[in-house]
Amino acid sequence: MPRTAELLAHDPDALSAVAAPTLAVRVSQYLVAEIQRGRLRPGQRLPGTRALAAELGVERDTVVRAVDAMRAEGWLTSRARAGTFVAAELPVVSVRKPRTTRVAVPERAAFSRPTLPALGIESIPKGAIYLGGGVPDVRLVPREALARAHRRILRNSPRTRLDYGDPRGDVSLRRALATLLREERGLAVGDDGLLVTHGSQHAIDLVARVLVRPGDRVVVEDPGYPPIRDTFRLAGASLVPVPVDARGLDVAALAKVCARGPVRLVYVTPHHHYPTMAVMAPERRAALLALAKTHRFAIVEDDYDHEFHFGGRPVLPLASADAHGSVIYVGSLSKMLAPGLRLGFVVPPRELLEELVRVRFASDRQGDHAKEAAVASLIDDGELARHVRRARRVYLSRREVLVEELRRALGDRIAVEPPSGGLAVWAGVEGDVEALRDRARARGVMFFVGRDFTFDHRSIPYARFGFGSLDEKEIARAVRLVGGASRGRAPRAR
Ligand SMILES: Cc1ncc(COP(=O)(O)O)c(C=O)c1O
Repeated sequence: MPRTAELLAHDPDALSAVAAPTLAVRVSQYLVAEIQRGRLRPGQRLPGTRALAAELGVERDTVVRAVDAMRAEGWLTSRARAGTFVAAELPVVSVRKPRTTRVAVPERAAFSRPTLPALGIESIPKGAIYLGGGVPDVRLVPREALARAHRRILRNSPRTRLDYGDPRGDVSLRRALATLLREERGLAVGDDGLLVTHGSQHAIDLVARVLVRPGDRVVVEDPGYPPIRDTFRLAGASLVPVPVDARGLDVAALAKVCARGPVRLVYVTPHHHYPTMAVMAPERRAALLALAKTHRFAIVEDDYDHEFHFGGRPVLPLASADAHGSVIYVGSLSKMLAPGLRLGFVVPPRELLEELVRVRFASDRQGDHAKEAAVASLIDDGELARHVRRARRVYLSRREVLVEELRRALGDRIAVEPPSGGLAVWAGVEGDVEALRDRARARGVMFFVGRDFTFDHRSIPYARFGFGSLDEKEIARAVRLVGGASRGRAPRAR
């Protein structure tokens, strides 16, 4: 049987091949590896620490520390006056697969923690037809063109696109978006004037972190988009709901809120109000900008689906008429292209941009520049514009089908008009709309009702049906199920 020292001497470079932080740790890792390989056997006596140190070319002290650590871990044992031995029973280091999937994760945290505000995010039941939301159909995305662009970028520019980069986003996407915003939305923005984010939700979270301090009053639309309320709640905002009607946010009501005390920020969806799809009227836009100037609050304009406007040119954003630096403009590629890509952007007054960039750096540093550059190339070569034109035609006919099917299925019980834009309809429903929603859900189709969007969860007799993500047949089938639910028929087995 070879002596230990001979084994070590046999391979003089072995010690330097073991990567470990300190020399003592390296010595112990080396010896453990020798035991695991079977070159040091259970029960075998090790040479004395002085001899081992000489063999390994290290200080004796280093070997003593390594041996102590290995004894503590159960690899070695020592007997008085007899020496140090490889343990007869070696520690078990292989990870065995647990026989059950139950993992012993503690239920409760042992540390004290603040309570999270109640967050209202609802999940979609598995297998349900989703007739809600107003989300796009990702089946229409030009995936081949996107994949080609992504592959080309990864091949040709790994150094710039796979490394740490500018937290504001890949320069090609900032340039492409700035051009699009100047030419199509009337914004005065250069390549350095925007920050690319992981969608508009992320953009608004950054804005909230920069602007909102605990107790600040933040105005939200009522009814409105619940996840954004959660974003402001997490920043400690005290939320103030302001009503919305067919002409958008009620600015007179907002003026009364301002008269009662300072408002930090007003969140609005003026292009297509979420969830009602109302387009904010021109005089209300002007009044809102004037009020912001007087009361020095920020306006966060969430222009989440600018492209899908069916009645001619979309209305220009509030930001395009903002001469005073009141508006923080937020946009997204989630509807224009695909929500899963997680791409959005924010155009703030210049002064705020640097702070947003710093907060972004502190939270997730930067986005995925290869993906951003791939999307930029779809914008530059016109592929995205072609996709939007194609998708707009598809959505227009889906909108017609949805409205027609709803009228057929629900007759007098529903009052529905095709919206001028957006990917959903807001319909007045007679009778118990929540009961209808529950019965439809039991039949496997999901949509939202007014109560899901009101600030205090009060019931209002409306429902919101999306038409973007389902094709015409799917829409017809889903609406038939809703019709069946309204007549209270038992669901047919699927
Ligand atoms: C009004 C509104 N704001 C923000 C978002 C979030 O979008 P994003 O995917 O860009 O984060 C949505 C998504 O549906 C939305 O409807």
